[in-house]
Amino acid sequence: MIKVRNLRLDLDGKTLFDNVNFDVNKGEMLAILGESGSGKSSLLRCIGRFKLPTSGEIYIDGENIFDDDINIDKVREKMGFVYQNFNLFSHLNVLNNIILAPVTVKGIPKEQAIREAKIFLDRVGMLGQEEKMPDELSGGQKQRVAIARALAMRPNVLLFDEPTSSLDPAMSEEVESVITDLADEGITGVIVTHELSLAKNIATKVAFMAEGSIYEEASKKDFFTKPKKMLTRRFLYRSRMFEKEVLKDALDIYTLVRELKTFLAKYETNKKQRRLIRIICDELLYPILKGNAPSTNAYVRLICSETSLDHTIIFSFKELTGDPLKPPYLDDLNISILEHYARYLFSQQRDDIWEVVIQM
Ligand SMILES: Nc1ncnc2c1ncn2[C@@H]1O[C@H](COP(=O)(O)OP(=O)(O)OP(=O)(O)O)[C@@H](O)[C@H]1O
Ligand SMILES: [Mg+2]
Repeated sequence: MIKVRNLRLDLDGKTLFDNVNFDVNKGEMLAILGESGSGKSSLLRCIGRFKLPTSGEIYIDGENIFDDDINIDKVREKMGFVYQNFNLFSHLNVLNNIILAPVTVKGIPKEQAIREAKIFLDRVGMLGQEEKMPDELSGGQKQRVAIARALAMRPNVLLFDEPTSSLDPAMSEEVESVITDLADEGITGVIVTHELSLAKNIATKVAFMAEGSIYEEASKKDFFTKPKKMLTRRFLYRSRMFEKEVLKDALDIYTLVRELKTFLAKYETNKKQRRLIRIICDELLYPILKGNAPSTNAYVRLICSETSLDHTIIFSFKELTGDPLKPPYLDDLNISILEHYARYLFSQQRDDIWEVVIQM
């Protein structure tokens, strides 16, 4: 349905993103996440053909929307756009907002457009409010009308840019539930959002934008349960992650243990977990950094769970010659002590980085 290939956008001589590639197939909803300024809206505006990329292609139903001889109106008819700030026509009432494009752009007879508008208003819980003007509606109601207006064009794909971010929590929830219902019916599209809950509810897959491209893309389940790369984890776990670089030549185990324990103390823990902090530092970090084998600095991340006792510590090491959980880094005694206190412990290699993951 939507196919993005090698998309690049330069603004003011600087590259905002490059090498952007993804597919959204029928029935899929792609959530695009990323820090403010990473280019999410600009990417979405390229898909809507409101912005021309510097290079690359976007295909909607197999047609390259940047082809010179393409009929832009026909392409736009396939897409419904829902904006952060609703963009309703303030001088038109709810019904006229919805039927305007079907009647003028698609040439649908007015009677039919009105009949259909009512069906879509019903779907977003706004039936009976056709005569109201936009400024008589709450933010959540405006956004629901905006969604009905997008649906009224019967688009093949829906594009949402932060549809709930200008709303207070209660209104955000009502809009989120409308969008979730649509997703359950299998709409196809792309949603840019800051709300992880919205992405969790409606996306089938997630793309995270950082470092001027799609930094990590995965199915929704994999993205939220096992994000692979560092910036993705930082983004997802921001509020409940402690991270620190541990310098080999300035190793201060005492301070590190105290910092980790202080952070952990904000969450529910048991005695074994609290002891584990010290043990990890003594039986794992110290031997790897200070033992016989040459090693570099380490990066430590403690990710705490708000809802359970399942906390995780990840150590990353660069330039090790092999598995850090094996000799010459650790011996059997180190490992058996760690295994006694940790729930689960494993190592994995990613590019030139070895990670030790300890589930507390
Ligand atoms: N027309 C433009 N000319 C120059 N720079 C622009 C233009 N439009 C956007 N930018 C810049 O491009 C960057 C990305 O903007 P964009 O709105 O796509 O980011 P975003 O990921 O949607 O951010 P947010 O989460 O805050 O909505 C920003 O730094 C912005 O200032
Ligand atoms: Mg934006």
